[in-house]
Amino acid sequence: MGYLHQTIGINARIARNRTAWQPHLEQSRDFVLNAAANCPQRRKAVLMGAAVLHDLPVERLANMFDEVVLVDLFHLWPARWLTFAKANITLQVCDLTASLDLLGQGTRKTGTPSAFLDDADVDFVVSANIASQLPLIPMDWLARQFSVDEQTRHDLGQELVASHFRYLQKFTGTTCLISDSERLVLDETGAEISRTTALFDIVPPPATTSWTWDIAPLGETEPNRAISHIVIGAILGQNSTG
Ligand SMILES: C[S@@+](CC[C@H](N)C(=O)[O-])C[C@H]1O[C@@H](n2cnc3c(N)ncnc32)[C@H](O)[C@@H]1O
Repeated sequence: MGYLHQTIGINARIARNRTAWQPHLEQSRDFVLNAAANCPQRRKAVLMGAAVLHDLPVERLANMFDEVVLVDLFHLWPARWLTFAKANITLQVCDLTASLDLLGQGTRKTGTPSAFLDDADVDFVVSANIASQLPLIPMDWLARQFSVDEQTRHDLGQELVASHFRYLQKFTGTTCLISDSERLVLDETGAEISRTTALFDIVPPPATTSWTWDIAPLGETEPNRAISHIVIGAILGQNSTG
């Protein structure tokens, strides 16, 4: 569908906008570390959206937990190297929507994600900047390959985001959600031109904290426009204390 291309694109954007992205990446890592520090048990940590690892303090988590599992549709070399450097880091390839087979064939159906829910050793889960991303490539695929109309795509996008939040709520350990929630377009003076949902109008779980991610500074997409995202950090899970 184009996932590898997108992820390589993220790496290129980070390289171009390193200074602008740095506060967001640091806030993401700090939020995860604080949540991990409050985790009452530290057996297995599951990190979702771990292809490139810019926003995840993986090595520090590997020092805190018995096992750290990096979950994504694929893993780039930085993640693969880590498994050589630290014996307790493993990789798992997984479609976290449980829907890509269905949507890839052009059906308008979604599945119910359940990976790791039956693993009693999971004490810590992180959804790292993936919730808003889950619908994007499948919706684009449905438009291009199957001419699926905009309303149907929006409805499916909503279902994928809502389903991800329901999935996270089912974990009993400390569960940490980092997600962009709103997209702001700004003019060259920093004045807001528009503000739209990044989550297909699905209301995320209550935020513990939030920050602004200057995802596209002036000139990245248009000469006189900048794009910022509002990012939320939320702690879910029955045993959470963070
Ligand atoms: C914006 S990136 C997340 C940022 C990343 N945590 C970092 O370090 O920069 C979105 C990630 O979600 C992954 N992803 C998208 N859809 C997925 C799915 N259905 N299942 C698992 N991972 C998915 C992509 O492969 C990509 O690595």
